[in-house]
Amino acid sequence: METLEAIRTRRSIRKFTSEPIEDETVNKLLEAAMYAPSARDTQSWHFIVVTMKELLHRIPRVHPHANMAYEAPLAILVCGDLNIEHITEYNAINCAAATENLLLAAHDLGLGGVWLGVYPRLERMEPLVKLFELPENIIPISLIVLGYPNEKHSAPQRFKKSRIHFNKW
Ligand SMILES: Cc1cc2nc3c(=O)[nH]c(=O)nc-3n(C[C@H](O)[C@H](O)[C@H](O)COP(=O)(O)O)c2cc1C
Repeated sequence: METLEAIRTRRSIRKFTSEPIEDETVNKLLEAAMYAPSARDTQSWHFIVVTMKELLHRIPRVHPHANMAYEAPLAILVCGDLNIEHITEYNAINCAAATENLLLAAHDLGLGGVWLGVYPRLERMEPLVKLFELPENIIPISLIVLGYPNEKHSAPQRFKKSRIHFNKW
């Protein structure tokens, strides 16, 4: 798929078929994520690949908008590493870039996914730290739930001239 088309047609997908995702495809998603830009090229991310049904079913208990995880074959928790990047906000930005790359790659590969916000909401971060047994230096930033799509959304019109400012505000 052409890059601009992928960017324009990617939509959040929250309904999935029961088809599993092959390991090779998961690796492609992770590789795309790891090609994201990062501040000072620290690549300060880690990815928890969640395929165990028991864990997928526990996600909605700790995240208020994650019911789609019940039927999804895969979730990926994107985390920042404070030992690599000391500035928390840069971890958030680096992981956000990786998250979007991963979602675009998923769309290109015929998968669908949704970005679930985690950082900076402590009430979401703390139970995820416990659930996935994250060490102290690892902060959960975003959670991506993925699968083969069982719903379709058309591309909305989002180009807004009013948000563009040439040279000065
Ligand atoms: C930081 C962030 C947090 C989000 N959190 C959630 C969430 O908790 N639950 C959810 O269903 N979607 C979540 N989304 C997805 C947005 O709802 C979605 O991107 C937005 O409605 C635009 O739709 P689109 O992705 O189809 O373009 C989040 C997206 C971002 C970037």
